[in-house]
Amino acid sequence: MTNQIILTIDGQQVEAEQGAILLDVARENGIDIPTICFHEATTANALCRICVVEVEGQRVLQPSCIVRAGAGMKVQTRSEKVIRARRTILEMLASTMDLSESTEIQHMMYEYGASSSRFPDAQRRESQVKDDNPMYVRDYSKCLLCWRCVQVCAEDAQYTFAINFDGRGFETQIGTFFDKKIPETSCVLCGQCVAVCPTGALKPKREFLLEQGMSAQEISVLNSGRKKRK
Ligand code: SF4
Ligand code: FES
Repeated sequence: MTNQIILTIDGQQVEAEQGAILLDVARENGIDIPTICFHEATTANALCRICVVEVEGQRVLQPSCIVRAGAGMKVQTRSEKVIRARRTILEMLASTMDLSESTEIQHMMYEYGASSSRFPDAQRRESQVKDDNPMYVRDYSKCLLCWRCVQVCAEDAQYTFAINFDGRGFETQIGTFFDKKIPETSCVLCGQCVAVCPTGALKPKREFLLEQGMSAQEISVLNSGRKKRK
């Protein structure tokens, strides 16, 4: 038997199942809440905080991708406090990483009036492109540490555990065990990490080579040479 409850989101009374995730309840009722680290295929970890909402009686903003709906809850998804928090998160991201291929985040920046130059002295994450396998390249200067790739590589899908978090604090990055090249890890080149990456930090090799100016024919020749060498 389901246990239905009533709560209020942005002044609108909505019905939900007790314990449903707030983000899902909002979206089911046509209320849009932005997300970055959240992905339907992965376990939510509330890392980016862009989905925060104001819940009456709570001192701090709550990440709607993990908070559960409760009876009588009063939630605001676009209060001044929420908008200010989202804008600041976006400005911090823009100050520290390369968002040039993060189309969704660029749209959010426009929507929230976020400035990419709010924190001019912020240290940027710089990284060389890692091109060490035939399937995809890794450019961690575009990585926002959403953890989606790690999760699909692990318990959420593939159970391969080829990549994980590495380092601490600002030095934290996604990496392989002992920084090994991808072919030396347990990676099976399934491509699921590339599919869930929201920023272009993980990119199909073919797309990368085309951007580097190689023609489709040159790439085919390169790939056939690689197959022959196997
Ligand atoms: S590489 Fe992409 S999917 Fe992985 S943590 Fe970075 S941004 Fe997220
Ligand atoms: S989408 Fe909820 S914390 Fe990132």
